[in-house]
Amino acid sequence: MQEIKIIKSEELLYTYKDGFAQSEVPVACPGIRITSCRLKPGKTQTISTFSKEDKMQILFFTTTGGFVRYGNTIYEIDDQAVFIPDFDRAGLSVTSGENELCFYRITGPMTDVDRRQMENCHYILPRFVRLRESIEYTEGFTQESGSRVVSHSIIAGRHLGRYTMGWNIGAGPDFIGQHTHPTLEQWYFMLDGSEFDYVAGGKEIPVRAGDISFTPHGTSHGSSCTADGYINYVWFELNRAWEEL
Ligand SMILES: [Fe+2]
Repeated sequence: MQEIKIIKSEELLYTYKDGFAQSEVPVACPGIRITSCRLKPGKTQTISTFSKEDKMQILFFTTTGGFVRYGNTIYEIDDQAVFIPDFDRAGLSVTSGENELCFYRITGPMTDVDRRQMENCHYILPRFVRLRESIEYTEGFTQESGSRVVSHSIIAGRHLGRYTMGWNIGAGPDFIGQHTHPTLEQWYFMLDGSEFDYVAGGKEIPVRAGDISFTPHGTSHGSSCTADGYINYVWFELNRAWEEL
């Protein structure tokens, strides 16, 4: 049985080469790779792409300014946003603006299940999703239990095979109710202003902006914050329902 892992922002170290640095996040899940990337102002970095038979890729911009270029199309990073390229159909690069650009790069294996689900839902890539434009929804253990935290779907189920992504935000005092996912591996990326207790596996773990958590499937988890606190994180999940667990 895997354990909950918390990666504090200060554990991630950056060594720049030509204005670009990437720090490997110890993700504790075979096949999934997450790097925390930094791009100095005014720099351009080519990002390698992968075929649909190989890997999916997500770029998650936690700061704003600059743009993504995919083939001949430019996407202005004018909000915290997620970019999903259409695999290796075009060249991908990222250019920073006046400030250092910070983003996570997430890659994970593509299986027959992923490809079939993507075909069935006719989701079109590439896609650039601003967090503020992502779709709001409610959950029984949170909003329907009296929480005012707002939940958003960034990548819905099946649109990227087994991979999904969403965003929760709310000022304290507030909570995300305890719940368990029998087949989901889950990561949280704490965003600006985050200051709350992640309550998982019976432990209360204080987290802040820049921290990352990994929660293996089958672990009860929720979050809470006091009047001074703030819940603001993006989650990323891998659904292993079709694998041998
Ligand atoms: Fe959850």
